[in-house]
Amino acid sequence: MPYLSVSRILINTFESLDIPSSRIKRIVSDFRAEMSRGLCAQKSSLKMIPTYVDAPSGKEKGRFIALDLGGTNLRILELELAGNARIRSSFEKRFTLENKYTSGRQEDFFDFICECIQKFAEESKISLKAGLSLGFTFSFPIRQTGVSSGILLRWTKDFSVKGVEGKEVVGLLRKSLIKKGLNYIKIAALVNDTVGTLVARSYSDPDCDIGVILGTGTNACYRERISQIAKLKHNTLKTTNMIINIEWGNFNKLKLAPFDAELDKASVNPGEQILEKMVSGMYLGEIARIIIRDLAKEKILFGAADTTALNRRGVFVTRYLSDIEADSSNGLLKTQRLLRGLGIRNSTLRDRVLVKKICELVSRRGARLSAIVLAAVITKIDSRLLRKHTIAIDGTLYEKHPGYAQVIKATLNEIFGRKSAKIKLALTKDGSGKGAAITAAAIIRMKSKEVN
Ligand code: BGC
Repeated sequence: MPYLSVSRILINTFESLDIPSSRIKRIVSDFRAEMSRGLCAQKSSLKMIPTYVDAPSGKEKGRFIALDLGGTNLRILELELAGNARIRSSFEKRFTLENKYTSGRQEDFFDFICECIQKFAEESKISLKAGLSLGFTFSFPIRQTGVSSGILLRWTKDFSVKGVEGKEVVGLLRKSLIKKGLNYIKIAALVNDTVGTLVARSYSDPDCDIGVILGTGTNACYRERISQIAKLKHNTLKTTNMIINIEWGNFNKLKLAPFDAELDKASVNPGEQILEKMVSGMYLGEIARIIIRDLAKEKILFGAADTTALNRRGVFVTRYLSDIEADSSNGLLKTQRLLRGLGIRNSTLRDRVLVKKICELVSRRGARLSAIVLAAVITKIDSRLLRKHTIAIDGTLYEKHPGYAQVIKATLNEIFGRKSAKIKLALTKDGSGKGAAITAAAIIRMKSKEVN
């Protein structure tokens, strides 16, 4: 490598994390082109999956169980839908998804889910035998084969349970339910978490037409006109719109910096989920680690200190990024403590300022990218931004990461100018599970209308 001065190396690093305004238009148009190709079943990195579900009417009623399988945990909740756009959640329990299940055998994984349902029933004293229906939120790419069935296309977010890809997941869950004596549970709906989030918000907000998750993984869905979904072969919906699960995490028309390429190569799914690897909580810490490690190798950071700890994949978790960015202590002492915890004893104030700057740039790039692809989705629905749009968003990055939501807003403003006032970003907490219950209610309502 030719000799580069310290300032040149730093400028190169900072520039590779920047998305200048001049690049935004290109990303928006590439994303729009991929969306269109995906809708016609042409080769595209965007799957554009028809869900056979549309936004609810707000009149859906009843008591339901929601099973919400996300990236880091499994949530089970009991929900009461009042039928007047109000939802009451009476009991909720979270279970950690340990690595032995997320990378283990198919039977153990689904049996574990059923054991969690049993524990939930015991603690809540809710009688599942009463015939409650269940809405299942499954936060992975599934090709829906109906409203309550779907085939897992591939695992994401480091999940690698064996023998599930290419299989119908509700069937696998049902098999375990029967084995565990829980056969009376009816699975009425299978939804992606983005769909759950959109549905939950639109239960009380008719302007909501996009659902986004910015958490361990990232993705979005939106309401598309059925006439635009050229690949749709059969349709049971009587509405003019259908929710499309974009699976935007797999968007791959993006320029990778060397640290992105290294992260991708070492991941369980190289070449896949490229946008997700630049945006979501699962990966931001790792990007920062690679950059900091490289600067330490060049002796631009931490002088002669021992930094071998930085060579280990995964040691710099995304939570550190949040903590460092939020550090406003004099001398960045919290950051100092955190670095000590990683084995870096003697950081100078300059080191810590630089580390903080890198963390900010890594998360800022992610937030800008998510705003840019969101802008592409908005223009697909409403090219001149004539209507109001509520974007239902959930996920810890959006909710908790310092400054993340503000960067998204500022980037939308940069793209749409004053018209961005038409876009409302609405944090929709725990929408994924609620939406699954509402979808279950909507499906039951539709079926009963068909019978009568
Ligand atoms: C999955 C999506 C999911 C997103 C957010 C991604 O890894 O592919 O289906 O919606 O994570 O949880």
